[in-house]
Amino acid sequence: MYSDKVMDHFKNPRNMGEMENADAVGEVGNPVCGDLMYIYIKVKDDKLDDVSFQTFGCGAAVATSSMVTELAKGKTLDEAMNITRKDVADALDGLPPIKLHCSNLAADGLHDAINKYREKQKQ
Ligand code: FES
Repeated sequence: MYSDKVMDHFKNPRNMGEMENADAVGEVGNPVCGDLMYIYIKVKDDKLDDVSFQTFGCGAAVATSSMVTELAKGKTLDEAMNITRKDVADALDGLPPIKLHCSNLAADGLHDAINKYREKQKQ
C-alpha cells in the first residue's frame, strides 16, 4: 500500500530529532488522530541552513516529515514557503489516498516554522 520511498523514509528517517538552538519551531496537530509534528529550522542568510523534525504519528507521518526536511534544506525561505503538501506526496511517489489527509501535515509544519521565524524577526 505504501511506495518504496515512503517505506524508505519511514524506516530510515532523515533529519529526525529535536534541534538545539533552533531559530523557530513549527507545530501542527492532526485533529483526526491527535498526532503531533514539530519542524525545527535554522536560518542563515535567508536560507534554511538546517531542518529537523519530531513526529508523534503514524508511519506515513514520519515519512512525510522526513521528506519535507530534505526538500526544504538549503532553500530560501520564500522557496520553502512554496513547498506544498502535493510536492511532499509527489516526492514520495504518492501516498495512499486514505493517508493523504491524515499524515501530510509536514508542509504545514514547515510553513508554520517559517512564519514564526518571520514574526520573531519583526520584533
Ligand atoms: Fe495520525 Fe497518521 S494516523 S498522522
